[in-house]
Amino acid sequence: EAIEKGGYDHFMLKEIYEQPKSIADCLRGRLDAKSGRLVLGGLRDYMNKFQNAERIIITACGTSWHAGLVAEYLFEEFARVPVEVEYASEFRYRNPVVGEKDFIIAISQSGETADTLAAIELAKSKGATIFGVCNVVGSSIPRTTHAGSYTHAGPEIGVASTKAFTAQISVLAMMALKLGYQRGTLPENKYIQLLHELEAIPGKVEQALKTNDAIKYIAEEYKDVRNALYLGRGYNFPVALEGALKLKEISYIHAEGYPAAEMKHGPIALIDEEMPVFFIATKDSSYEKVVSNIQEVKARKGKVIAVVTEGDTQVKALADHVIEIPETHEAFAPLVAVVPLQLLSYHIAVMRGCNVDQPRNLAKSVTVE
Ligand code: G6P
Repeated sequence: EAIEKGGYDHFMLKEIYEQPKSIADCLRGRLDAKSGRLVLGGLRDYMNKFQNAERIIITACGTSWHAGLVAEYLFEEFARVPVEVEYASEFRYRNPVVGEKDFIIAISQSGETADTLAAIELAKSKGATIFGVCNVVGSSIPRTTHAGSYTHAGPEIGVASTKAFTAQISVLAMMALKLGYQRGTLPENKYIQLLHELEAIPGKVEQALKTNDAIKYIAEEYKDVRNALYLGRGYNFPVALEGALKLKEISYIHAEGYPAAEMKHGPIALIDEEMPVFFIATKDSSYEKVVSNIQEVKARKGKVIAVVTEGDTQVKALADHVIEIPETHEAFAPLVAVVPLQLLSYHIAVMRGCNVDQPRNLAKSVTVE
């Protein structure tokens, strides 16, 4: 096992550090920005269905569902197709309206999640086209879907998903760019620019991993808290959900993720000097709004820890701690911004003596209802 961990103390840490490579592996052979090439083999026979779909329905569970939320923003922004993101467990039991014009994307690391499989069967029986985004080659979901793209992240052993999440977003981002280009909603020059941006992500993730020492210091300071709030807007809202999920899964600290603007409809009541609030506050179209949300937290004496874009000054002046990551196009920010949050959860869990790779009550793949 020590050999399999490749010198890391835990699989989770190894998998976090593998992300520059796993994302690059996922993009390799599919994307070449210089020549403007973007090919997803699995889509070839289904491109027509995909392009003409009246609606995309994404179904998944857990972290994969968070990747689906990021994809909703990507598909709607670049391809202008309506998207719904459904928890597989809800979708299968609520008599959903679904039919032949719908393109279903099922996301699953393991390819074995029972609820996701059942959601697929249901949509299939109603005539929808089903596309899988899975990591484990030859697992049940890729075998029941019409087509799909593997994430090629390599085996993920830690129960808390890390590299599978970023690989899922990478595949979904390629799908969104392809669809936008084919549908004519994404002009060629913008499309090419985005291909370059996506290609640059592995290097930026590598940079983001260099925040590790600073994060350890922050982890030391907050490891004993009982609650935590994670806030983000736009593309960073799903990152807030994922950051909170990572913390609760492995450190057993109660954590909630929220869209930052929703704070005033509930979570703001919880804020006092004991409450750490983790903001994902990278430079994007909602940056100024996030800055005012940070001010609202500070006015109530909450502790603010913010993931910011390198060179940021505004948030830095307000926050108790900042973690700087490289600038990215906002659509791909989740791929980089999630990395420090993964590291933070990891260090806090280790400091609390938790079983990081096998947290209590959780399973890597949930094959029962
Ligand atoms: C379990 C795992 C999570 C995972 C979820 C969905 O809860 O612990 O890490 O996100 O299942 O699994 P899947 O394999 O379908 O992505």
